[in-house]
Amino acid sequence: MRRMGIRVSCLVMLLCGPSAGISLAAAAKLPLGLPEIPTPADNAQTPEKVALGHQLFWDGRLSKSGQTSCHSCHLPDKGWADGQKLSKKDDGSMNTRNTPTVLNVAYNTAYYWDGRAATLEKQIAAAWRGQMGLKDDAGAGEAAKRLAEIPGYKSQFEKVFGEGPTPDNVVKALASYTRTLVTGGSRYDKAEAGDAKAYTAAQKRGAELFKNKAKCSLCHAGFALTAWEFKNIGIGMDQPTPDPGRGKVDAANPAMKGAFKVPSLRAVSKSGPYMHDGRFATLAEVVDYFDKPFDNPGLDEKIKGGIQLTAAEKKDLIEFLKALDGTMPDPKAPKLP
Ligand code: HEC
Ligand code: HEC
Repeated sequence: MRRMGIRVSCLVMLLCGPSAGISLAAAAKLPLGLPEIPTPADNAQTPEKVALGHQLFWDGRLSKSGQTSCHSCHLPDKGWADGQKLSKKDDGSMNTRNTPTVLNVAYNTAYYWDGRAATLEKQIAAAWRGQMGLKDDAGAGEAAKRLAEIPGYKSQFEKVFGEGPTPDNVVKALASYTRTLVTGGSRYDKAEAGDAKAYTAAQKRGAELFKNKAKCSLCHAGFALTAWEFKNIGIGMDQPTPDPGRGKVDAANPAMKGAFKVPSLRAVSKSGPYMHDGRFATLAEVVDYFDKPFDNPGLDEKIKGGIQLTAAEKKDLIEFLKALDGTMPDPKAPKLP
């Protein structure tokens, strides 16, 4: 509906340019199954801004050491995550949570495993400082100054933002590029659009299990296979000091203790290891986890009993998860100035 509205207004006003706040990816054709990409009014997308963000995403010079870029932890060939249980930050310290994919984050309603950032811009501002050794605003200011000394960057920032690099416009360019990193057009999307031949026989059985017996769609539903709610499914509650997850952000709500954001499952076969602590290396391990009955305080009522699938059903469910693989963004590194 929303997409239709945009298209109609484009036709009527002939104002599909960035000044109308229409995103690039929406103007180009999005893969099947994806709605229009929401873009904030104060950070409209332009091809030049996206191209600048592409370079910044890959450039280690944004970090304190000169070595770490966004791309260091969000790699195209690792499903835009990093393939590690936990990864090391630019300052040498370890992350305590697994690196999630950046695919389709344009649609998120909350960022990070605990949803502590409300917008992609806020999330990226924090990631740049926290993951890349800059620590604070002063560090970000210094990094922006370093970029200003690179003529190829200075001129691009001036063209795109009417000023040289600043901590604010570096984040805006990164966010614009990150919003173009989408995946869709999967067998799942084709099946949902009515193509009876989209699934293999196993995937078809798996889709049925996902919706019914295995109860996955209680939490993983909608075009992104999530509504970005926070749920406790018991992951990490076995630790001596469990990660409170959403419980730290929303301390007033006892149900949020140990709850984490329900992740999207699009292209999930590419982005292991899984869960906020990266404990499962494979989708088979994930399915085994849900299969067994388990209990702990705060666990979501809906999944307490386990699902007790047969070995063949587990296989089918995993085949269905692979049917969520779709188109992938261009993995090519940009030419850096
Ligand atoms: C050293 C590894 C590392 C680097 C470098 C890094 N990230 Fe991440 N990224 C992570 C981890 C770990 C998380 C999850 C942290 C959490 O939830 O507490 C994350 C989360 C994210 C998310 C949120 C995804 C979601 O579903 O909520 C986005 C978006 C993101 N990073 C983009 C970026 C961008 C853009 C950069 C460069 C400015 C960057 N990251 C640099 C490791 C990294
Ligand atoms: C009660 C809600 C709920 C149900 C039901 C549920 N999930 Fe999840 N799922 C979550 C949450 C929350 C996480 C993240 C938990 C964490 O990391 O602590 C998650 C994580 C995952 C992940 C890991 C994704 C990643 O990027 O790390 C996969 C795969 C997954 N679920 C598949 C399934 C399947 C298959 C089913 C059905 C057998 C299922 N889920 C049922 C809430 C749910």
